Amino acid sequence: MRSRVIAGNWKMNKTPAETREFLESVKERISRADARVFVFPPLICIPEAVEVLKDTDVCVGAQNFYYEEKGAFTGEVSADMLICAGAKAVIIGHSERRDIFGESDELINLKLKKAVEKGLIPILCCGESLEIREAGTAAAHIERQIKSAFDGISAKDAAKCIVAYEPIWAIGTGKTATSDQAQEICACVRETLKSIYGGSVSDVIPVLYGGSMNAGNAAELVACEDIDGGLIGSASLKEEFADIVNV
Ligand code: PGA
Repeated sequence: MRSRVIAGNWKMNKTPAETREFLESVKERISRADARVFVFPPLICIPEAVEVLKDTDVCVGAQNFYYEEKGAFTGEVSADMLICAGAKAVIIGHSERRDIFGESDELINLKLKKAVEKGLIPILCCGESLEIREAGTAAAHIERQIKSAFDGISAKDAAKCIVAYEPIWAIGTGKTATSDQAQEICACVRETLKSIYGGSVSDVIPVLYGGSMNAGNAAELVACEDIDGGLIGSASLKEEFADIVNV
């Protein structure tokens, strides 16, 4: 049985004081849900979030890290540094990291390997652009992204990962994928994982949908067979996040 997962990706929003205020207001509602709940605040807000959520099961994670142990990598933080700050999970391969910051499939693979080696729970993101969707090659694109990200990762480690399918054209646009479109690609993610690791592993990896998910459309999306939850951007910054968790 796969766990249900709801994760909030705050992106570059909220200060430490705003983090405290917001999490105190939703803490009760997000911690009594029948789902694994994650919040991904900006890096410097992680200690604040960990402190507010310390007596709950809500897991605090980071939006990014660098795969090297330490050294001359100006502006970067390592997995060990995240762990020291209290992070237990990390988002890898978000389309904003791929597109704005030029992260390659190769770098994403190195990050995924390091995250599992260090015991951070990775949420590996994949997703196609509007151009790829209109060309009818979305499924092939997703298959390639998944195979590349998991290259060299053992079945035992893969079973600890979470995958999020986020069509780029649906992120922050208010344009959600239909439940049929989302289900089709989430099933393709699972099929790809099954072709690499077999059904015993692909059956336990939660596959999330992300892209303008909100309290109004979450129920229909998570009712799909291969959608085990959501990675939420804008709606995770508001009280609405607690509504989604409770859906
Ligand atoms: P959105 O973002 O919910 O604002 O579309 C989702 C994401 O980027 O993870």
